[in-house]
Amino acid sequence: MSFSLDQYRLDGKVAVVTGAGGRGNSIGRAYALGLATAGASVVVADLNGEGAAAVADEIGENGGSALGVQVDIAAPDSVQELAAEAAFAFGGVDILVNNAGLMAELKSEQAVDISLDEWNRIMRVNVTGALNCAQAMVPLMRKRGGGKIVNQVSGGAFPAISIYGISKLALVGLTTTLARQLGRENINVNAIAPGNTTSDAGIQLTPEDSPFIQFLEASVAMRVRGAPDELVGTLLMLCSEAGAWITGQVMHVDGGWVLRP
Ligand SMILES: NC(=O)c1ccc[n+]([C@@H]2O[C@H](COP(=O)([O-])OP(=O)(O)OC[C@H]3O[C@@H](n4cnc5c(N)ncnc54)[C@H](O)[C@@H]3O)[C@@H](O)[C@H]2O)c1
Repeated sequence: MSFSLDQYRLDGKVAVVTGAGGRGNSIGRAYALGLATAGASVVVADLNGEGAAAVADEIGENGGSALGVQVDIAAPDSVQELAAEAAFAFGGVDILVNNAGLMAELKSEQAVDISLDEWNRIMRVNVTGALNCAQAMVPLMRKRGGGKIVNQVSGGAFPAISIYGISKLALVGLTTTLARQLGRENINVNAIAPGNTTSDAGIQLTPEDSPFIQFLEASVAMRVRGAPDELVGTLLMLCSEAGAWITGQVMHVDGGWVLRP
């Protein structure tokens, strides 16, 4: 088969994007809008049900097809309901984007001091949440003969020098394990590791004038910050026929963050 740009199209596909309805300018919102632009029906899922509904409305106003669903990815029952709602609304699931996570709300605690409750809370959302979603969606993908899973990790895992980084590195491990175990079922599993992204959460975490950003400006190869929309092209490749032969990979979309000396 020769290459065609149509390989990036997602017409007839159903995508579930978690963490897509929380803050106004979020990466999940950009992902949901991008998937809809490529033709997919999108289930916009978030702990914030009103925010999820608002992003689904925005997709509808742009001529796309979407449903907003309130979900707690840390609760397996809630995730099973999400899968059932997706299947009821659109007939199945082809694509799962595990984007929801705790980041801006986390304190930079020392590993030797963090309480086990806080450690477990972070892991339950950032790692187990993605596992819960995979467990609920993969049976639906199997019914469609295959699927795509994209896990949102972070440049903050390369190297992991924070509790957040540990959680994202564990999610890399879930990515390679699922890729290995689901490959023969035609399910691609990959990860995107964004650099410092100008979502509302990203700007809250590291404002433009913060010493961390100034420090990075001196060391990142190309450009420290990228906009949520700059991640969408990679997502569409991983979710479409264009990326059919890619599995178990971490795509670093970060202007050279991982190359810093
Ligand atoms: N902004 C950055 O610089 C950056 C960089 C690398 C990776 N990331 C990752 O990208 C993702 C999106 O980040 P963002 O900047 O858009 O932040 P964000 O805070 O806007 O998005 C996270 C979303 O996850 C949702 N969420 C949290 N807990 C949940 C739960 N239990 N169930 C369902 N939803 C839940 C929140 O409501 C929120 O909408 C996160 O996984 C983050 O770790 C962000």
